[in-house]
Amino acid sequence: MSLRAAFDEKLAGLKKQYASKCHLPGLRIGDKTADIAIVQGGMGVGISLSNLASAVAREGGIGVIAANAIGMTEDDYYDDPLGANVRALRRELREARRKSDGLIGVNIMVAVDCFHRLLDVAVEEKADILFLGAGLPIKGIPVRAIRESNVQVVPIVSSGRAARLIFRSWEKHYGDIPDGVVVEGPRAGGHLGFKPEQIDHPDFELEWILPEVFQALGEFEARWNRSLPVIAAGGIFTGEDIYRFLQLGAKGVQLGTRFVATHECDADVRFKQAYLACREEDIIIIQSPVGLPGRAIRGPFLKAIARGEKKLFRCPSRCLQSCEAGKARYCISEALDSARKGDLENGFAFCGANAHRVEAIVPVKQLIAGLKQGYALAGLVGALKTEVAKTSETLAALRDEYKATLAGVSGKVQAELRHLAEEHEAKYIDEKARMHERLMQIKAEYRRVKERIEELSADLGILLDVQPSLNAI
Ligand SMILES: Cc1cc2nc3c(=O)[nH]c(=O)nc-3n(C[C@H](O)[C@H](O)[C@H](O)COP(=O)(O)O)c2cc1C
Repeated sequence: MSLRAAFDEKLAGLKKQYASKCHLPGLRIGDKTADIAIVQGGMGVGISLSNLASAVAREGGIGVIAANAIGMTEDDYYDDPLGANVRALRRELREARRKSDGLIGVNIMVAVDCFHRLLDVAVEEKADILFLGAGLPIKGIPVRAIRESNVQVVPIVSSGRAARLIFRSWEKHYGDIPDGVVVEGPRAGGHLGFKPEQIDHPDFELEWILPEVFQALGEFEARWNRSLPVIAAGGIFTGEDIYRFLQLGAKGVQLGTRFVATHECDADVRFKQAYLACREEDIIIIQSPVGLPGRAIRGPFLKAIARGEKKLFRCPSRCLQSCEAGKARYCISEALDSARKGDLENGFAFCGANAHRVEAIVPVKQLIAGLKQGYALAGLVGALKTEVAKTSETLAALRDEYKATLAGVSGKVQAELRHLAEEHEAKYIDEKARMHERLMQIKAEYRRVKERIEELSADLGILLDVQPSLNAI
């Protein structure tokens, strides 16, 4: 048998043995359940449309169409931005439904001028889940229509405080609460919900924000007797990362960057190639004209802006409420739309902090299979480590028992020698035989447990050896 075949056989055996630890779980949000706990993050200005979303949904994840400036994919956007946005969102939702029976969500930025209109369209078209970010989805939410259409609502937050604020406000105004949250950390792509100085600060790492969000939602889970899944996002790259965040208590993960580098991603291939070509030092934080920091790949366009150039642009509707279009040196929507179409001279690509790790453009099916495999391996490693730790405890307990029994035997010998009497002698011989028997049992048990540890450690060694190469897939 070849080494590879032997390894595969070993892996299959271990996966069977630890099946429950290796299986990437599903994700339940309100009434909707995805087969796998992976959400494809909505990526605006045409990066995640029906093609990507339906491909993800077909693989059991949640595919998400990004609604902001979606009308830029229409010819008449500059004449009728609202009409183009509404038409394009409806079309993409219907197209995604046609291509998949899985769960399709819509990502809408609260800060866009036509937020409420886009929300209505998504509800009318019965999107499965609304992901609402870049602002607090508090005012004028059509909660009754949302519930009647069985649409789930998931705000995107960057802190426990924001989550609490949204849930409290819903409770007060609507007598209802959203169905979960996405927590987006500072390693995410696109606009970020952090101040520039917080982005690299350890206190704002996703791992640190998560517990405060668990705590915030815990209150509402108890009060409403409902499960409110927390979905972690930002910098999650491998199956091993997914395992880690689910172990920390997240019920799902949201990935953006990995889904850009897929055949099905709706952007031009040159946009995807920019991910393959970029180095870590090319990934920078910009101050977007809408007043938020954003993460992007530095290219000719951003270099020109950094030199102080101003780009001419048309602004049909001041699409982002916080945009200071009069002062802006370029239009963010136009720049992102150019990049979507592959024109990286007149635009730039948003990306997550891990974009430089992308090595290939692959089909969504392959990406998800790789993530599942990485998850399974991490699950196995975790299970084996736990078992090694438990077995080591057993070993230490046996060692202690052996020592105590041995001390008992020698103690008895001395005591009995001192008071050697006929009737005691028989009892003593019996007792001694019992103790010897126990000593033999402990020795045998000890040998067995030790062999088990060696076996587990060998398996663990093999898994740890292959893990880095698997994560690179
Ligand atoms: C190109 C790009 C565009 C994005 N656009 C949006 C957006 O329109 N709305 C939004 O809420 N998040 C947006 N995001 C964030 C993603 O939905 C996702 O949460 C984030 O990228 C996760 O981090 P990751 O890229 O490290 O996986 C965007 C991300 C990228 C890479």
